[in-house]
Amino acid sequence: MGVSRRAVLRAAAALGGLGALGTRDPAAQELRDAPCGEHALPPGNDQPSLAALAARQNRFFGAAVKDPLFTDASFRDLVIKQCNILVCTYSMKWRSLEPEPGRFDFRLADRYVDFAEEHGMAFRGHTLVWQKATPPWLDDELSAKGFAVVERHIRAIAGHYAGRLRSWDVVNEAVWPEDGRADRLRSNVFLEALGPSYIEAAFAVAREADPTALLYYNANPAPYTGGQNREHFEGVIALLERLLGRGVPVQGVGLQSHLAAAHAEKFDEATLVWFYERASALGLEIMITELDVSDKGLPTDVALRDRLVARTYRRFLDVTLAFPAVKGVLSWGLSDRFTGHNRWARPDRWAVRALPYDHCMQPKLARREIAEAFLAHDLDR
Ligand code: XIL
Repeated sequence: MGVSRRAVLRAAAALGGLGALGTRDPAAQELRDAPCGEHALPPGNDQPSLAALAARQNRFFGAAVKDPLFTDASFRDLVIKQCNILVCTYSMKWRSLEPEPGRFDFRLADRYVDFAEEHGMAFRGHTLVWQKATPPWLDDELSAKGFAVVERHIRAIAGHYAGRLRSWDVVNEAVWPEDGRADRLRSNVFLEALGPSYIEAAFAVAREADPTALLYYNANPAPYTGGQNREHFEGVIALLERLLGRGVPVQGVGLQSHLAAAHAEKFDEATLVWFYERASALGLEIMITELDVSDKGLPTDVALRDRLVARTYRRFLDVTLAFPAVKGVLSWGLSDRFTGHNRWARPDRWAVRALPYDHCMQPKLARREIAEAFLAHDLDR
């Protein structure tokens, strides 16, 4: 009573609970959106496919996919046409694959890997060690048994898929300068139970369990100024230098790249370039692993949102694709119908339009700008 929605949002945002403007909304399907086709590119504007554009410069374009891949034919067809690499949104996370200690369930994840193989696509494993999407028993088990718990997990999973995945995100989001440690590592459940050596130990076990997958550290700084993002990028490079200096088998660095068009003016190009230069000099390959552009904080007007989102994609990719070490781009979802962003709805209750294809599987301006960015950076190799 008497407390406005805006006040609730403000209070929640102050507590850090909501991140971007929005509120948790399980009824995302009730959100408004533009009629099919109204803001789509004219027919034929999604050829050649993004996969073909990327492949001709020996790169990948792909997307994170979830279960509609198996139930929604229009989505499945779009994925088959546009992608040459896939990653699971959630089906390879700890909680999905090891629901009880030592009991593994590969049935769903296997369907994704089978699907990719059937359609000649590469696959990224995501992710072996991450403090989120963990099962409720993990903390106690780690305190009782130590690294053996992580080792069992990695051996079972990386072993199960050995030889079939292009790469594994062995460790995800382990740097977090905000936690105040000198090594800028995140004070997560693994660090607290095992100390900082859990990272190199995880890479060593992954290498044994799957001798062929490229082993990645997947990083989550935001490519904007403000906060501690510069320190975050530096912390990632420092971690990679430490690992490589000790002979740890790390071959790639992923940059998640969850962008927000409303913050586009804070884009810190210099830091991003610095990061790509340093990672390239370390001999690592780079992958953009989770690209999407939220339109939260922008006005309702769909045409305006689509333009600003598309521009944000383009600017980021123009900087990124200039680096030959960048082997590809995966968007976090492909169609707005299945973006995770609506779990925290826009305050105007219009659906978020964060991805290259709209909720009707039609290409948007963002799709055109992604294609143009690939075309503009054809590295001729
Ligand atoms: C997110 C998914 O999009 C959600 O559906 C899920 O509930 C939580 O995880 N960094 C990552 C991804 O590495 O795995 C996360 O994916 C988004 C942030």
